[in-house]
Amino acid sequence: MNLRTLLEAINDRNIVSGLTHDIYRYPARFSPVFARAAIELFTAPGDTVFDPFMGGSTTLVEALALGRHAIGTDINQLSVFLARVKTLLLSDPEIDMLRVWADNMVPDLSPRKPVVRHTVWQDMGYQDNLPWRFRKLAEQALNNAQILLEGGVLLAARCVVLKTVQWAVDCKKALPTASEFRTKIVADADAVADGLRALRQQVEALGARRPTVEAHYCAADAIGRIRSSVLRRRPPKLVVTSPPYAGVHVLYHRWQVLGRRETAAPYWITESNDGRGASFYTFCDRRRQDHDEKYFARLLACFTAVREVVRDDCVIAQLVGFAQPSEQLPLYLDAMRDAGFADFDFRRFGHRPAEAVFWRAVPNRKWYTRIRDDIKQSKEVLLLHRAR
Ligand SMILES: C[S@@+](CC[C@H](N)C(=O)[O-])C[C@H]1O[C@@H](n2cnc3c(N)ncnc32)[C@H](O)[C@@H]1O
Repeated sequence: MNLRTLLEAINDRNIVSGLTHDIYRYPARFSPVFARAAIELFTAPGDTVFDPFMGGSTTLVEALALGRHAIGTDINQLSVFLARVKTLLLSDPEIDMLRVWADNMVPDLSPRKPVVRHTVWQDMGYQDNLPWRFRKLAEQALNNAQILLEGGVLLAARCVVLKTVQWAVDCKKALPTASEFRTKIVADADAVADGLRALRQQVEALGARRPTVEAHYCAADAIGRIRSSVLRRRPPKLVVTSPPYAGVHVLYHRWQVLGRRETAAPYWITESNDGRGASFYTFCDRRRQDHDEKYFARLLACFTAVREVVRDDCVIAQLVGFAQPSEQLPLYLDAMRDAGFADFDFRRFGHRPAEAVFWRAVPNRKWYTRIRDDIKQSKEVLLLHRAR
């Protein structure tokens, strides 16, 4: 593994797939190929990899599959749920139960049949704007899972329902029929089962002791206050991450139904709590006059806390996007320096590659950026730092 492989990986154009990666389309995910390349380049098996903004837990899954211990934090409970499911190591009989559950319950899914309503979640507004037939089909599937399954298999079944309802409603112009939903939920159960099996087999093939994975519901700037055996025993050698992007609106906590209506249904399906506005998950509302001041203050607080828990030779590899790169990138680099991270020393690789190869064009992003810097506003940059 060399630096060129990492730089090529940031431009990986394949759809996110493999292992448990495509269990859920978490917004602004980075490519597993990028996470894998960084982990292989900067760590050895048994080291610890940390993602303070773990999102869809791409870093955690790749670290586990490569025999590295992993720790992640996120303030989105949905992210923590996904990390738990995507790093489950289920046995073959457990995985088979997931498929059997889907096959057996599907004939009973019907919008015409009565259902025991999830009134607590309904009363809290978590089902608002979800078209009634998908709400009902999901309630039927979840009720069935709760009766028949437990533990990791129940979590995986919840994830199957999450995946299918996301497919049915999120950003769709036309909604599928109940019959299409039934076909898809069986296919999704297979996909989740295949992903979980592939992950377990890969971890088994490592032979050595299983790595530890910790996913914490916690703000990155509070990482020093959590109890973590991974941090205590093996402080991180590498951080692979992607913080909220400066001035860029990403909807982490809602699905968009038929245009602009939004639903918080993912939290109901995963029994998680939300109750916060979009800006909670993006450091700061991008429309505020003082956006940059607040954004960079939060960034500095988070990376200062990260610096306190990582090794003195820790490397930080991050993919970052900006609404206004020419103004915000220098501020970003200042914040990293103030937090205790120095520019990466490329001499160990012979020379520093040309600036341009650190940038990647972002395909098909559903971003609502302020269009000021039209050259780079749809680009992300790879930033490499080391602790100092
Ligand atoms: C760009 S996403 C990360 C995507 C991830 N790299 C992936 O591949 O799925 C940024 C994440 O940071 C989280 N976040 C925002 N503020 C945070 C904070 N103060 N501490 C921890 N996580 C935070 C958001 O909830 C979101 O999940």
